[in-house]
Amino acid sequence: MIDCKTIHKNKRILVGVTGGIAAYKSPDLVRRLMERGADVRVVMTDAAKEFIAPLTLQAVSGHPVFQHALDAEAESGMGHIELARWAEMIVVAPATANFMAKAAHGEADDLLSTLVLASEADLVIAPAMNQQMWQHQATRENIEVLQGRGITIIGPGEGDQACGETGLGRMTEPEDIAQQLLGDGIPQLLAGKTVLVTAGPTWEAIDPVRGITNRSSGKMGFAVADAAKDFGATVVIVCGPVSICAPVGIEKIDVQSAKQMQEAVMGQIDDCDIFIGVAAVADYRPVKVADQKIKKDNDEMVITLVKTPDILSAVAKSEPKLFTVGFAAETENLIENSRKKLKAKNVDMIVANDVSGQESAFGNDSNAVTIIHKQGEVIGEIILERTDKYRLAIQIIEHICKQYLKNQKSKNEGKDQSKNP
Ligand SMILES: Cc1cc2nc3c(=O)[nH]c(=O)nc-3n(C[C@H](O)[C@H](O)[C@H](O)COP(=O)(O)O)c2cc1C
Repeated sequence: MIDCKTIHKNKRILVGVTGGIAAYKSPDLVRRLMERGADVRVVMTDAAKEFIAPLTLQAVSGHPVFQHALDAEAESGMGHIELARWAEMIVVAPATANFMAKAAHGEADDLLSTLVLASEADLVIAPAMNQQMWQHQATRENIEVLQGRGITIIGPGEGDQACGETGLGRMTEPEDIAQQLLGDGIPQLLAGKTVLVTAGPTWEAIDPVRGITNRSSGKMGFAVADAAKDFGATVVIVCGPVSICAPVGIEKIDVQSAKQMQEAVMGQIDDCDIFIGVAAVADYRPVKVADQKIKKDNDEMVITLVKTPDILSAVAKSEPKLFTVGFAAETENLIENSRKKLKAKNVDMIVANDVSGQESAFGNDSNAVTIIHKQGEVIGEIILERTDKYRLAIQIIEHICKQYLKNQKSKNEGKDQSKNP
């Protein structure tokens, strides 16, 4: 299971830089946090600016550096309280002895120390100083106070110091800090693989202005596509009419009806390794589509519907080599119906979604699902608790990867055995 701390997409981290020699390491820390998906802003103390230029940190983070507490211009943009609320984590690296003394005593005489007091974000401190300053009784007591408040202290390390002394006081290396805060990042298990995802509802026209559709927002499909991309896959998404933006770095093919979705899917399927059908495809469409808007002439109107193509079954049948995953949207007997769907459609996995009630999967930003998977003749279930759709998608893709790679391995072993009877 991927540790939750590795799912840090857009995690809002405020990096505080204070006035120590180790400030030269701060741009590297910013870069390494951003590489792991974090959204980073930087605050510098006046002393820090004597060691490294704000422009360097602006260039690396892609945002202006916050520098002044009493700045009318900054307050008219993202003011200090907004910045304090924005942050999910404040990481002060390097943290001077002076900063720690102020933080321990609740002083707020500059922007960084004010933000630390004004924010509910987790505070992480990476001290860096001369070994004598680190050993001093005052620093020791300040550290004790900070640790007593549950603040995380990373380092310092031991070794040669810029002042020519040797001992404890070196700032922990940026890669180690980033690793401790955010882990290794998402393993690139799908590198070199192509994943085709369908998302959103379909629109089955009745006339030029009316149609049959459903409440799918496309959020779950886009989250699945985004998560597959973050596992290293090349992702193509075939998408019904939605009003949200697709994740970046993904090829998107827009369609309206179930028939168009099937055509688009079949046009892409040869190049794919994994198919994930998240779209809520209409089961029926009107037999006839009126050329002109239908008038309100009669008290009643009958629209005859006919079944739409079953895209998931068609994919599973036409491409047996493909790893096929379907999403089942049910309002009752969720697990039983999904198990039936797994068998009937002959797919490798079904992700069962409850679309009834207030917490319906449709439209919400969070979701909870049960994965029903097949390994040979054995059918198993995995319950994934409610969380935001991206985090859920990461867990779903992780299970897909595990089973897909297991299937590949057993297929390869089968091939080897047939070569050596
Ligand atoms: C060349 C030089 C290097 C310094 N390096 C450090 C250091 O590594 N750690 C530290 O705690 N203070 C160091 N100081 C002292 C701080 O810069 C000083 O305490 C300053 O007031 C810290 O301000 P700040 O905490 O607001 O950034 C250094 C001072 C100088 C002149």
